[in-house]
Amino acid sequence: MKTNSLYIASMEPDAGKLLVTMGMMEVLSRHIERLGFFRPVIDGKQETDNDINLIRGKYCPDMRYNDCYGFKADEVKTLVSEGRIKNFYKELVSKLSSLQQKFDFVLCEGLNNSGFLSSFDNDINLELAKHLGFPFVGVISGVGLDARDIHEEIKITKDTIKDAGCAHFATFVNRLSRGAHNSLELDDLHLTMTPPVFLLHEEEELGKPTLADMQKGLNSAIILGSKKDLYRPVKQFKIATMTVEHFLDYVQDGDLIIVGGDRADILLASVSTLSSPNYPNISGILLTGGFTPKKNMLRLLEGMEVPVPILSVPQGTYVATKRAEAIPVEITPDNKRKIARGLGLFETHIDIATLIKRLDISVSTSITPIMFEHSLFARAKTQRMNIILPEASDERILRAADILLSRNVVELTLLGNPTEIYLSCAALGLNLKRATIIDPSSSEHLEDYTTTLFELRKHKGLTLEAAADAMLDVSYFATMMVHKGHADGMVSGAIHTTGDTIRPALQIIKTSPGISVVSSVFLMCMDTKVLVYGDCAVNPDPNAEQLAEICISSSDTAKMFGIEPRIAMLSYSTGGSGKGKDVDKVRAATKIAQEKRPDLLIEGPIQYDAAISPDVAKTKLPDSSVAGKATVFIFPDLNTGNNTYKAV
Ligand code: ACO
Repeated sequence: MKTNSLYIASMEPDAGKLLVTMGMMEVLSRHIERLGFFRPVIDGKQETDNDINLIRGKYCPDMRYNDCYGFKADEVKTLVSEGRIKNFYKELVSKLSSLQQKFDFVLCEGLNNSGFLSSFDNDINLELAKHLGFPFVGVISGVGLDARDIHEEIKITKDTIKDAGCAHFATFVNRLSRGAHNSLELDDLHLTMTPPVFLLHEEEELGKPTLADMQKGLNSAIILGSKKDLYRPVKQFKIATMTVEHFLDYVQDGDLIIVGGDRADILLASVSTLSSPNYPNISGILLTGGFTPKKNMLRLLEGMEVPVPILSVPQGTYVATKRAEAIPVEITPDNKRKIARGLGLFETHIDIATLIKRLDISVSTSITPIMFEHSLFARAKTQRMNIILPEASDERILRAADILLSRNVVELTLLGNPTEIYLSCAALGLNLKRATIIDPSSSEHLEDYTTTLFELRKHKGLTLEAAADAMLDVSYFATMMVHKGHADGMVSGAIHTTGDTIRPALQIIKTSPGISVVSSVFLMCMDTKVLVYGDCAVNPDPNAEQLAEICISSSDTAKMFGIEPRIAMLSYSTGGSGKGKDVDKVRAATKIAQEKRPDLLIEGPIQYDAAISPDVAKTKLPDSSVAGKATVFIFPDLNTGNNTYKAV
């Protein structure tokens, strides 16, 4: 089905169309350069629409908010009551056709299944898809249904879409129980049914509100805690009315403890559970009745570094709980964790190849930063690796690991003391159960690693004792794991300097055959393109031979990442415009690289402006096949490279 548009809509309330929209946008964003998003009608009750904010921010940053929707619900109601429904369709068709001229693909997300839909005789989403000529993606809720019910729902959906006169692209059944999902998955409905049927199960966290939702929905004050802790899911509410010794028996993982703000005993007991490995991890505390902790109590809590937020509302416990229960659950743009969980679910269970084949889209030949970033996840998934993260003591690493595991794209190994890592994860509300944790000091491989390092470096005067010491350093340990094939790669440098991060690799792994110099590249995501900068991190002052090697390895890396290398050997001279030994070095390096790799397009010496700007290139080097369109930039030394990449 060759198409440059899709219309996604739920066939019933709470089917979870945003998850399907997000998954589809993620897939499209890897292949399509100019991607547009549109909602024909938004509720208009909130200041801005959540789905537009999420999708626009992540996949269509160049779109203006107002171009992403047609009407607010109230405006449509007025048109309907005035009998001007034709104007509604006419305006939408005109707005969308202008979007289709601007974008290579436009995805439309239908109206929410709210009471508003009863203003229409027919299913407005199907009507719109038909009027707009967009193939339809129906999203069904699998909540409470068994495999037989699902088959019936699929058939009803197919008939409904056909009867409405729409082209039917696919059906998604979302929020299935795991049991129903497992049994239906065996039928390969995406291959055996036309149009294909894709299945997703209920992911607990996606259906739960977060503390951020609570805070916003209740308009509560934050007594203690930082914004980043608000993204913990609230699995259930726990109203604390008992005495402490009884209350403690009821504490569960993910609790939002709701308690009168004058119950200092419960507040202290709740906070204490967080530092005890014998108790589950609560998500937060909501103090009611407008009572907030007294000064001395606050002083005590602040000193305890409470890792979960403490919120406060003026309402009493009963009213606050009722209001909390009514807060809608959403995937919001700032909740990276929920987004990762959703995309991880989509990518794990949806056969992307079948989806792409059915879309039959014309794939873009250039790579934008958005396409680049999103294709990295897809590539990682197809070549699943075990990556070691030595810096597990850093909160950023733990948060990133949580996202990567949620996306299900990699196996992770963290180095450090398991108890400390588990406690940090609990305090941060992260789930790293799927990661392997190794404590170098008690590793079964420690002795073998120590001997190996000693053998490799004894000619340099390294003693066995010094090798044993080095092996307790996480950078050496992680590098040795890669050397031994116990891990595929290592990502480090968050809390170690570049030198400390790469020195073990220089000593243990060394270079590939035929390469003598280790260098670095930065993949620079500019506004509309991805450029490669080398070497901005390792070699302080490479000679001409080394610079030629850096040029070759950098362009090979560019190719590996799907960037067609056109290489600029940078200098303060373009052609013969400037003189000096630094220019001579770059000229010599260019010659060596061109002789070694005649297949590569290499220009040098060339100035940055002539390399990047087609206008400058026209005057400075009009006949060059690199000038004005370079993709790989090789800097003459570390001073220039390091400062330039940081300045961009
Ligand atoms: N390629 C291949 N091998 C190398 C390289 C290289 N570029 N550099 C050093 N080696 C080898 C050496 O030959 C030596 O091998 P051997 O011991 O088996 O004989 C081994 O690595 C250790 O070399 P040393 O010179 O002892 O290591 P040293 O620690 O002094 O230097 C380092 C290596 C860390 C890369 C150094 O060149 C350096 O500090 N570079 C600058 C790093 C930096 O500060 N970058 C800027 C900030 S990064 C950023 O902003 C992201």
